[in-house]
Amino acid sequence: MSAGTDVDALIARMSWTEKLAQLQISYRPRLEDAAELVRAGIGAVFWPRSAEATNELQRVAVEETPHGIPLLIGLDVVHGQRTIFPIPLAQAASFDPAVAETDGRVSAAEAASGGVTWTFAPMIDVSRDPRWGRVAEGFGEDTLLNAVFGAAKVRGYQGSHLADPGSILACAKHYVAYGAAEGGRDYNTVDMSDYRLRNVYLEPFRAAVEAGAGTVMASFNTVAGRPVHAHRQLLTDVLKEEWGFAGAVVGDASGVVNLLAHGIAEDLHDALVQSLSAGLDVEMGGHVVAPDGTSSLTPDDLTVERVDDAVRRVLRLKAALGLFDDPYVDPAAELTAPTAATRAAALEAAERCPVLLKNDGTLPLPERPLRVLLTGPYADSTDHLGAWVQSFGEPAGSLADALRVERPDLELTVLPGASFDGADPGRQAEVTRAAAGSDVVLVAVGEPSHLTGEATSRADLRLPGDQEALVHAVADTGVPFAVVLANGRPLVTSAWIHRAPAVLEAWHLGTEAGPAIARILTGAVNPAGRLPMSFPRSAGQVPVHYDHENTGRPATTGGRMQPLVHDIGLEGPGNVEEWFTSKYRDLPLGPQFAFGHGLSYTTFGYGAPVLSRTEVSADELRGGATVEVSIQVTNTGQRAGDEVVQLYVRDPVASLAQPVRRLRGFRRLRLEPGESATVTLALGWRDLGFWTGRGNEFVVEPGRFELHVGPRLDATQQCDLVVT
Ligand code: GLC
Repeated sequence: MSAGTDVDALIARMSWTEKLAQLQISYRPRLEDAAELVRAGIGAVFWPRSAEATNELQRVAVEETPHGIPLLIGLDVVHGQRTIFPIPLAQAASFDPAVAETDGRVSAAEAASGGVTWTFAPMIDVSRDPRWGRVAEGFGEDTLLNAVFGAAKVRGYQGSHLADPGSILACAKHYVAYGAAEGGRDYNTVDMSDYRLRNVYLEPFRAAVEAGAGTVMASFNTVAGRPVHAHRQLLTDVLKEEWGFAGAVVGDASGVVNLLAHGIAEDLHDALVQSLSAGLDVEMGGHVVAPDGTSSLTPDDLTVERVDDAVRRVLRLKAALGLFDDPYVDPAAELTAPTAATRAAALEAAERCPVLLKNDGTLPLPERPLRVLLTGPYADSTDHLGAWVQSFGEPAGSLADALRVERPDLELTVLPGASFDGADPGRQAEVTRAAAGSDVVLVAVGEPSHLTGEATSRADLRLPGDQEALVHAVADTGVPFAVVLANGRPLVTSAWIHRAPAVLEAWHLGTEAGPAIARILTGAVNPAGRLPMSFPRSAGQVPVHYDHENTGRPATTGGRMQPLVHDIGLEGPGNVEEWFTSKYRDLPLGPQFAFGHGLSYTTFGYGAPVLSRTEVSADELRGGATVEVSIQVTNTGQRAGDEVVQLYVRDPVASLAQPVRRLRGFRRLRLEPGESATVTLALGWRDLGFWTGRGNEFVVEPGRFELHVGPRLDATQQCDLVVT
């Protein structure tokens, strides 16, 4: 069956309840339960864990239901199915969208081979709050990174054609602003202006829709008092009518049922009516039609037009996937384990994500025999897969084993010395003794995977358990050491970071984490990751993000604890003007490590930025004109490496307060020692303008724009562009 016209003929033959049954997905994993639901006409189920089981359900749908409509088979394939890639937050740190697209492609091939046709990914929730454990699943605090990486994942999952064997439906989630949950507490309230909603949180979803995402998932939260699952303005007016989204909007798990707890629905029937009327197309939970094939919903509750529209969206996706032509997969071809090629792809991805936060030269390890003490829970832990990995994801090896393979000449001693729960304190003494006989100590610490992802909000962002005590114990020995962090969110490191000569932020890197970290520690790979989220100095500093407004009283010096001396006119840091500015009196200014920060084992030099033109009119920009910013980069060190050139824009005077910086372009490039290259980044209408928050009004206002380009926020060169 082709997409489009035949779908309408099919809808015309369907009964009211048969249509409603297409508007739900059940997550009952047991096959016999699922088969009963399929016979009752349900349109989608979660993956039953194998190609054979999937084929059985598809057979029931095709042969034992009145219209033989095949099923959508959904699953959370977030950063890998069998071969596990780095968590999405780590992928964002690569500043290389190809990493995300490769993950999407490999994951889709593995998942599709087992009969999965729909993944609930990419997650593109901008988040400025690392207390929220789900920051692991998205691409960080920046709107552009989430937009670019989300679109790359959509391309990876969906490929050139949805009907291709290795393609599956993408699902941009969680629409919208879930990452702004108050307090960083999962599922919590979201309330913000349309100005911020449009410019920060909606943009990645607009990009995902432009990239062709087949589905969008509604988020659990309210926006301005209205749960998104029943938010007509967001689900229909913006997503479907303004952006022209022709795919299907799926609810999150029990998101419709949650409308009762939100206090906007009297009962489940009311919740279903409100959500489906608002523009939800598929309810996740199986509450639209009961297993006995009955539903409380009638055409008095929902218009036939609305139901037909939702069914049409679902059936068109099934047609685009080719399911009406052939819903079955070949069990003999099911990919149930990584291959050498997928492992190689995962290793390459994992090597591109770690961020070198600090380094006094302790890293990389010298290429001579060394007595190395490897300590910390991640010394021999294999828990590197991160959040949202299914039980059948390929496990990772340990860092200890990977180091033994990478550098068999090392005299390696492995002593965990601490734990994530601190249940066995006092093991630092044995570590201290072992350190005394070592040339260098590697302290591998972090967060366990289960402490990241959904429902893992943390109020304390420090290393959990007695890991901080371990870092101090090693620092007290005076032996050179480096810290390796394996975690799923920015952590507070202020208690020990000043004592650590070198720190590598390795994230949860997936199946190939061990070799990737080992190859960076030993210098086989030169790290080039950059932070996709700011690292706060304290949980009390959150939210802290680079693209903040200047405020009317920006601070220029750090917190000062001593009282102000009210001698008006005093010059210097004690003066009144500085005192009454936006800062914490008990913290230095700014984050511990800023967005975009990252070091290398080599050094890079920059020429002066050059603009293709220094003046352009708003009309030219609206007509598609661009301004190119070019800059020469040179590897001035002795080792090949990747540099990440970043382009930030500031609109210093506008009708609405603008962020002090907005990332508008970036490029990662490899340079051999002594090699130079010119990077050119283009700026257009979308890059220079902003949403006013008045409906869908987007403007580029005349005036002077500051363009800041360089390797990091605190190392950019400025040039100005005048828009007339
Ligand atoms: C979860 C998550 C969502 C996921 C869904 C299905 O609650 O919020 O991201 O896709 O349920 O597992």
